[in-house]
Amino acid sequence: MEEKPVVLVTGSSRGIGLATAERMADAGFSIVLNGKKDSPALQAAEERLLNLGAKVLTLPFDISDTTRHEGVLHAVIERFGRIDCLVNNAGISVRSRGDLLDISEESFDEQIAVNLRAHFFLTQRIARWMIANPTNSYRSIITISSSNAEAASTTRGEYCIAKSALSMMTKLFAVRLADENIHVFEIRPGLIATDMTRPVRDAYESRLSNGFSPINRWGQPADVANAVETLATGKLPFATGEAIHVDGGLLISRY
Ligand SMILES: NC(=O)c1ccc[n+]([C@@H]2O[C@H](COP(=O)([O-])OP(=O)(O)OC[C@H]3O[C@@H](n4cnc5c(N)ncnc54)[C@H](OP(=O)(O)O)[C@@H]3O)[C@@H](O)[C@H]2O)c1
Repeated sequence: MEEKPVVLVTGSSRGIGLATAERMADAGFSIVLNGKKDSPALQAAEERLLNLGAKVLTLPFDISDTTRHEGVLHAVIERFGRIDCLVNNAGISVRSRGDLLDISEESFDEQIAVNLRAHFFLTQRIARWMIANPTNSYRSIITISSSNAEAASTTRGEYCIAKSALSMMTKLFAVRLADENIHVFEIRPGLIATDMTRPVRDAYESRLSNGFSPINRWGQPADVANAVETLATGKLPFATGEAIHVDGGLLISRY
């Protein structure tokens, strides 16, 4: 069995997931990388992790295809013999921003399938394995939701609905898994500079110039990765079910 702890970071070919995989490698974890498909980005991510000296298993799969989850777990256990942390990070934006009254069933269903259902069943699968294979090592399941778990953005309501359900998912698993020594957390990023926000970069530049958030800058993927590392390395051992905001104070009520 691998001596180092092992983390699966979904959606780690790019953006927040890749920064998280790199930070976790620095923290001494072996890494399971994932993207929706085998892509130049995923291969480049693997190269970066190997250059950091990490042990890496790269598993392209669509998280919303829950029939893949068992095989993914099997591949991780076959390679490393253990899994200590799951970071539910993979996610997608809406098909198009627009009026709440015009959201299509296709976009709604896609948000639920990828941004909610996939995380629930992957968490369930990994949690069952952890329970069946007890250890004294620190274990955690960390889900990347969004400020939109809390803040209503009516131009992408289906994203907000899926992300807000992740908050309840986190609390439910936190309660269920506490006796199993598995800590469960949610991280709510604000505005982070990644491919996901590239299409709306100009609009947010203009909002930043008008004082968008108390810490008035773009968040970086590493800002979120820092929070994941803190939670995944057991620095908050008497906490579970918490939501950590990594958003520059965006959601503090002000007047
Ligand atoms: N950026 C922000 O401002 C922001 C704010 C709040 C929350 N978030 C959340 O943070 C997470 C990461 O966002 P990001 O900005 O880093 O996004 P990103 O740059 O667009 O990267 C998305 C990642 O998710 C993967 N992915 C997408 N659909 C997938 C699927 N069905 N199965 C497996 N992998 C899939 C992508 O893989 P491929 O490379 O194969 O496509 C990629 O690795 C998301 O959950 C997002 O909702 C982001």
